[in-house]
Amino acid sequence: MPLVTTKEMFAKAYNGGYAVGAFNVNNMEIVQGITEAAGELNSPVILQVSKGARAYANHTYLVKLVEAAVIENPQIPIALHLDHGDTFELCKSCIDGGFTSVMIDASSKPFEENIALTRKVVEYAHDHGVVVEAELGTLAGVEDEVAVEHGHESYTRPEEVEEFVTRTGCDSLAIAIGTSHGAYKFKASQCTRNADGILVPPPLRFDVLHECIKRLPGFPIVLHGSSSVPQEFVKIVNQYGGNMPDAIGIPEEQLREAAKLAVCKINIDSDIRLAMTATIRKYFAEHPDHFDPRQYLKPARQAVKDIVAHKIVYVLGSDGKA
Ligand code: G3H
Ligand code: 13P
Ligand code: ZN
Repeated sequence: MPLVTTKEMFAKAYNGGYAVGAFNVNNMEIVQGITEAAGELNSPVILQVSKGARAYANHTYLVKLVEAAVIENPQIPIALHLDHGDTFELCKSCIDGGFTSVMIDASSKPFEENIALTRKVVEYAHDHGVVVEAELGTLAGVEDEVAVEHGHESYTRPEEVEEFVTRTGCDSLAIAIGTSHGAYKFKASQCTRNADGILVPPPLRFDVLHECIKRLPGFPIVLHGSSSVPQEFVKIVNQYGGNMPDAIGIPEEQLREAAKLAVCKINIDSDIRLAMTATIRKYFAEHPDHFDPRQYLKPARQAVKDIVAHKIVYVLGSDGKA
């Protein structure tokens, strides 16, 4: 099948009590690793491209890589999504350039400005058969040029979501319930430590999620910043010359709970980065004489495939739902 929008994906996910994974893509190995896992597990999948990814790899290369993945995996629905679009022009360029879904992230702007910009993108997108994700509330962490320090994030205000969705006409809504971007999602002072000295983060704000669901029945909710930062990868990175002290993510069980509710899209990028980096660091340490990029990118691609397969089965619950 050709690239699809997320409309039907989300309707099925909402009713089926699972979520679709949205994984960031930056190069061929990442596209291949993600889609091979989704293809083998018969899972729908969203490939998302950030402004930074476009600057790194070029719009055309990324679209063509995704189109190749669609040809190689004709049995599963694949959507191509702009992650964290920050201007109308960027969204328009992706809508005109083959994307089936865009995010306009005006969450750092005042409520009325967020509505006005989101509405403008929705009008253009819907005229072109493209769906729009918007955001209310701000996550901590770094995304492209926007850095929000811990303590400056703000949870979504449930009393605003209905008006926002009605006035903008957006197709899905990203909310802030305690997830955050990157591999350092919480300061040590926000956490406790378990017996092994590993940080245990504060729980997600399911009360905020439930309040949003109550006000938006049937409407797809999105969670950004949902990497779990697997400690086995952090350990490998640190063992082989890296330095990632106190890297910490969102516990997988909490994401699985959210996926059973109205959360239809779960964004994962950092875990893919971590899986590749851990694998390549270990490979270099064990094969100091190798210099052919295919030698270390092959296991790195396999690591992407393995982590995505794990997410599909144990976090998203989207296996067999294509
Ligand atoms: O939310 C941010 C994503 O992880 C994309 O990151 O802007 O560095 O490509 P990036
Ligand atoms: P992570 O940094 O937790 O992987 O979040 C990615 C994300 O939200 C992309 O938009
Ligand atoms: Zn994000």
